[in-house]
Amino acid sequence: MSFSNVLISWYRNNKRDLPWRNTQDSYLIWLSEIILQQTRVEQGLPYYLRFSEKYPNVESFANASEDQILRMWQGLGYYSRGRNMLKTAKVIQRDFNGIFPQAYADLITLIGIGEYTAAAISSFSSNEAKAVVDGNVYRVISRYFGISTPINSTLGKKEFQAIADELLDTKNAGEHNQAMIEFGALQCKPKSPNCSICPFQSSCFAYQHHRINDLPIKLKK
Ligand code: ADE
Repeated sequence: MSFSNVLISWYRNNKRDLPWRNTQDSYLIWLSEIILQQTRVEQGLPYYLRFSEKYPNVESFANASEDQILRMWQGLGYYSRGRNMLKTAKVIQRDFNGIFPQAYADLITLIGIGEYTAAAISSFSSNEAKAVVDGNVYRVISRYFGISTPINSTLGKKEFQAIADELLDTKNAGEHNQAMIEFGALQCKPKSPNCSICPFQSSCFAYQHHRINDLPIKLKK
């Protein structure tokens, strides 16, 4: 079985039922991904539920005032995320006929959407073959392949993205990407990963070489 086949079968047996995984609406996926930047799922979930209820589509979001958005953002921190979302919602009303884009090439032009978020939204909403690389993915790849290149170096970013691209199941990109994120969050955790019940145990470099607690490597800047 390929890496992706093992990963996806693990995911189907272990995934959490999270509301943004039951939609292909790129607006709702965007909402969830921006909320989840620098925020844990348990903390972000109630915000996602309140925002998606009050602003069920990009038009309603674009018509909100900055005060309304920031009031609902209270407690999440990094308030520039909320401000940028309002700017982006207005750009979508003006330049995209109010239709939230699904294509990576469109998404990457929008304020507050970088490579990770564009890959997440495009793959989750339309299965576009773009691999996500976030902290979870760095950890899984670094441990599994025994890669010591610092994850916050220019070379490291290129190297990890290239491996993530190669691992991607291009026919099932959305589920593969969700599975990478979930595997890093639940199984290949930063501290005390569950190696004793891991499906990759016998082929994981870090497990086999007792390097789990040394990887990934992050440079102090
Ligand atoms: N963190 C960022 N994106 C996520 C997602 N789609 N599911 C779970 N956690 C996430």
